[in-house]
Amino acid sequence: MKKLYKCLWILLGNVQHSCISAILLDSHSYLHQNAAFQHTATQSSMYGTWYSENAVDGVRDSCSHTNTQTDPWWRVDLMKVYRVNRVAITNRQSSYSEIASRINGAVIRVGNIPDIYSNPICAVVSTIPSGATASFSCGGIEGRYVTVHIPGNGKVLTLCEVEVYGYLGGNWAVDGAATQSSTFGNWFSEKAIDGNRGLLQLYTGCSSTLNETNPWWRVDLRYIYRVSEVVVTNRKDCCAEQINGVEIRIGNSLESNGNNNPICAVIPAIPAGESYSYSCAGMDGRYVNLIIPGDMKMLTLCEVEVYGEDLSVLPYSLLSSLLMLFSGGICSSCKRIHKCDTTLVSNP
Ligand SMILES: *[C@@H]1O[C@H](CO)[C@@H](O)[C@H](O)[C@H]1NC(C)=O
Repeated sequence: MKKLYKCLWILLGNVQHSCISAILLDSHSYLHQNAAFQHTATQSSMYGTWYSENAVDGVRDSCSHTNTQTDPWWRVDLMKVYRVNRVAITNRQSSYSEIASRINGAVIRVGNIPDIYSNPICAVVSTIPSGATASFSCGGIEGRYVTVHIPGNGKVLTLCEVEVYGYLGGNWAVDGAATQSSTFGNWFSEKAIDGNRGLLQLYTGCSSTLNETNPWWRVDLRYIYRVSEVVVTNRKDCCAEQINGVEIRIGNSLESNGNNNPICAVIPAIPAGESYSYSCAGMDGRYVNLIIPGDMKMLTLCEVEVYGEDLSVLPYSLLSSLLMLFSGGICSSCKRIHKCDTTLVSNP
């Protein structure tokens, strides 16, 4: 991120609006680098010097290779938990169809368990032509490990490149700043983003407003996210029905304290002590608000979790000031922007 800042500030003074968009698009793809690149890979056995790491070296014609064995496998540790959208596999180049077809039946798994067979299956390879790269959609499966294995006897697993694309999968709310319309006792707004769903600490682990008209709670995520999911945990001690009718709103505006941003969901009810998930696929925003419209309402939240994709490495304020600064000028340095990006990509 620091490098991107540096790059942007170097460019200050001679870029315009469209160039800023180009930077943002490119910084987006910068974030969407191959998450497997140069991470630690292991395999069930090694043929010759066909190291497991050859499948994550960024070079598509150096390959990993097991011996002929029962159930050969290969695994990469991404070191962080990603929501994996896509895995791309490059097959070995060979004019012998019997070698190129060794990949047939390979199972791709993504998950948080280091064990080979325990994680959910993303895809099963039917076939990949000799030397070709095929992409498999994993629909955002969460995981730190990506495993490829071929079930059966007398199998060989050769992988010339395994690329993993996705986004970091954490709960972004815990890195945000919370606030609410009023505070009941010491039920501070931050308690809804303390990373603890509050079930073990009924009287200390939750946020609550006073009994008032239109009470609201808000988290500032500090950056813009494409929110996939919001998880809300209701109180367990009493009055679970108080959550009924809460609106979840997401957006970038602070007008009316953010309570005018678009609605992701209205909560009909959540049983006492339970955590319910609301899908907000495609809503972009820096602010997530929860509000109960009406008189004599109290908003109590034991945890609010926000999952989604980081849309920009830039804080929104810097972004908007840049857009204001440059709306109008003459774009003379798109080539320089490209140069900046190359540096970013090759030297992250
Ligand atoms: C708010 O106060 C009113 C009036 O005292 C009461 O009737 C109502 O039940 C209270 N609401 C909550 C959610 O505590």
